[in-house]
Amino acid sequence: MNSWIKKDLKYIWHPYTQMKDCEKLPPILIERAKGVKLYDNKDNFYYDTISSWWCNVHGHNHPKIKEAIKKQLNSLEHVLFAGFTHKSAILLSERLISISPKNLNKIFFSDNGSTAVETALKISFQYWQNIGKKNKTKFISLDYGYHGDTIGAMSVSGIDLFNEVFKPLFFTSFKIPSPYCYRCPVGKERDYCSFDCIEPLEVILKKKNNEIAGMILEPLVMAAGGMIVYPKEYLKRAAELTKRYNVHLILDEVATGFGRTGKMFACNHVNIKPDFMCLSKGITSGYLPLGVTLTTDSIYNAFYDDYEKGKTFYHGHTYTANPLSCSCALASLELFEREKTLDKLRNLIPLFYKGLEKFRDLAIVGDVRYLGLLGAMELVKNKETKETFSLKERIGLEIYKYGLKKKLILRPLGNVIYLFPPLSIKKRELEYILDSTYYVIKDICRNR
Ligand SMILES: Cc1ncc(COP(=O)(O)O)c(C=O)c1O
Repeated sequence: MNSWIKKDLKYIWHPYTQMKDCEKLPPILIERAKGVKLYDNKDNFYYDTISSWWCNVHGHNHPKIKEAIKKQLNSLEHVLFAGFTHKSAILLSERLISISPKNLNKIFFSDNGSTAVETALKISFQYWQNIGKKNKTKFISLDYGYHGDTIGAMSVSGIDLFNEVFKPLFFTSFKIPSPYCYRCPVGKERDYCSFDCIEPLEVILKKKNNEIAGMILEPLVMAAGGMIVYPKEYLKRAAELTKRYNVHLILDEVATGFGRTGKMFACNHVNIKPDFMCLSKGITSGYLPLGVTLTTDSIYNAFYDDYEKGKTFYHGHTYTANPLSCSCALASLELFEREKTLDKLRNLIPLFYKGLEKFRDLAIVGDVRYLGLLGAMELVKNKETKETFSLKERIGLEIYKYGLKKKLILRPLGNVIYLFPPLSIKKRELEYILDSTYYVIKDICRNR
């Protein structure tokens, strides 16, 4: 074992990792990256098929992003954000507001996806307190949703494998069945359904709207829940219902934002007006940490009063609106225009979908789903019964290990294998990734 890795394992506890597994499968030492490739210490490369945890947009080591960070570094690396401000945050806010749904006019900065979500939950909660509707304290969320690893974000998430052990710490939220079409909660087929899965939302809103502050959901794709792509109609109806019953709609665009679904934000596929939008990950194209929560003027105004009225939002993080992160985010947004990132995607997406459709032939691929430049295959033991592989079978780990040999990072989400490459990926790179992933899964099928 390389001496760096020995030291790594001596000192470091990696996230989402059973460290015992590292004895057999140690972490890979990455020395540099360029475009969609990560290079290890022996100059072997791996395609960054999952955008370094769903962050990278314009490729690694982009000269324009580096230039923006360096320029900012020459003048101001960090400043406290209470009582002080800086131009990069101001310019970024203006830019973000100009591309967000029209009713979102105020920005609260933080430093990652979970804090962007926590901020939205806390503002929503306090909003109702500030306007005297003191009973509106609970949240609705989807049972396959994922919103982060802080206690509040976990309370409105629903992935048992990840957070079961922490359940006693969570605040109560109303969990409703997800629009998971492959495993429809009401036993319908997607092509013939009339979105009956929305009913539990309507029932709970009708009964309990006086107790409910907001509903949080990931628009169109429940990412960590298994890249579950769901119909636009569900999102549209959820937006209508929350509006009708006077409950905030909190859209968590942490994974779906910044072009991932083919539009700047997933909510752009549907004409809706959320009360909050949470952003992170792709906001800086994956170069530096930053979180953002956008909200409306009317919510902001419920906090705007004389100090002694006690309506201030007492919340913040040390690295709130870090200038390096903000300048990086601005550079990333400029690249969207300069490189016509979303226009180019229009050509790539049909090729991506076509490549993914091929996976349906494979014996252990039960479902294939995609939107924009994210695609996923749900693996099953039996296509007829949709029986899942058990945790013990570790099919995902098997595919991950094999994928590395083919220069791919096929990090599984349970029994789901997905592709989530940087949006700057070239056609031939995407074709290589699709073909190689296909052969990895095919070979695994053959050997079982
Ligand atoms: C939809 C969504 N929300 C929130 C988060 C949490 O973001 P972070 O890991 O930056 O805290 C994630 C992370 O994967 C996510 O996918």
